[in-house]
Amino acid sequence: MTEHKISVMIPEEDIDKKIRELANQISEEFAGETVHLICILKGSVFITTELAKRITVPVTMDFMQISSYGDGTKSSGIVKLAKDLDETIEGKNVIVVEDIIDSGRTLHYLMPVLAQRQPKCLKLFAFLDKPERRVKEVQVDYNGFQIPDEFVVGYGLDYAQKYRNLPYIGIVEV
Ligand code: IMP
Ligand code: MG
Repeated sequence: MTEHKISVMIPEEDIDKKIRELANQISEEFAGETVHLICILKGSVFITTELAKRITVPVTMDFMQISSYGDGTKSSGIVKLAKDLDETIEGKNVIVVEDIIDSGRTLHYLMPVLAQRQPKCLKLFAFLDKPERRVKEVQVDYNGFQIPDEFVVGYGLDYAQKYRNLPYIGIVEV
């Protein structure tokens, strides 16, 4: 039972299939190399681990927390770096894993910050993308699903910290 009414937008099977496809693509592109995944806390935890499990080249991981959202469903427009990486990314094949791109503010701020640290390459994986909502331009290298302008939860995404554990992407009716 959930407090809010939640309808399924993307079922677990479709997510599984998509992650597998993207993991295969990444494994082929980085054959013979190591991939360094940067998980953007907290929303990207589920997608990062699922992706990492399916990549067949060596994987290392690090975590970073940055946010432009308050507790509700509206962007505050304020971007803050709450937790930096533990390790250097210099010379590494970096893939930033983000749960969802909405206004684009978070990544528009973050990607240049990471580029300055001189990784060998810097790519962006965005599990979900709401292109209609974009106010800042962001270049996505690996995209799971483009979705309409709806507030979604599950698979790591929350509504006021709830519903991250749902195994599908759902629309919360608020
Ligand atoms: P942006 O900076 O506006 O692109 O915001 C991206 C962040 O907003 C994501 O990493 C999420 O944490 C949050 N966000 C945006 N849309 C949703 C949604 O539909 N559900 C849950 N979180 C969202
Ligand atoms: Mg996020």
